[in-house]
Amino acid sequence: MENLQEQNVQFPLIGTKAPEFIAQTTQGNIHFPNDFSGKWIILFSHPADFTPVCTTEFMTFASMHEEFKSYNCELVGLSIDSIHSHLGWLRAIETYSWNGIENPKVEFPLIADIKMEVAKKYGMLQGESDTNAVRAVFFIDPEGIIKTTLYYPASLGRNFAEIKRILIGLQKSAAEGVALPANWEPGKDVILPPPGTKKDIADRMALVKEKGYEMKDWFLTFKKDQ
Ligand code: BEZ
Repeated sequence: MENLQEQNVQFPLIGTKAPEFIAQTTQGNIHFPNDFSGKWIILFSHPADFTPVCTTEFMTFASMHEEFKSYNCELVGLSIDSIHSHLGWLRAIETYSWNGIENPKVEFPLIADIKMEVAKKYGMLQGESDTNAVRAVFFIDPEGIIKTTLYYPASLGRNFAEIKRILIGLQKSAAEGVALPANWEPGKDVILPPPGTKKDIADRMALVKEKGYEMKDWFLTFKKDQ
């Protein structure tokens, strides 16, 4: 794509409201993100239907759909293809077995963004192609705020363990007001946000003494996961 500005491609930013849209999907029309109010959403794009890497990703998303739902999280997919292409591809996917996943049913909505309206609102069209979305992932919280964005190229399938880790980490951080260290995994120690004033430092020292937290320095305190 020569000029992303000319094409009016926008890039939603972390901490901002998820752009709204109405779209046709394989589960009927959706009003996004309002239809999912009160839930976490993973909105993701893929380059095209009937392509190999995308097929492995859809099989994996379908196999993890119930698990994401158990975290109060809904999946919404998108590509720049027609609804009939989507329906045909999802039916084909149901006949496949791969990587321990057998005959997966894709029950989450897949947006038919043939006019590229949503792709342009979400920065899914980038320099690789004028017509295929990149592999974008948006994590949106129950208030409709964008919390994390990922972009992968067409040639690289996503890491689903990382997608799940991000969701669990975002939920933990929101629920407990903690930060999460490098390579954090559920069950590992979390970090208390750093103090911002001299009084906060004194309070933190007292808290560390009382609770037995591990303080490496005044700005770096670890707490056991609950
Ligand atoms: C794929 O999903 O395999 C794919 C899609 C577009 C370009 C390259 C690979």
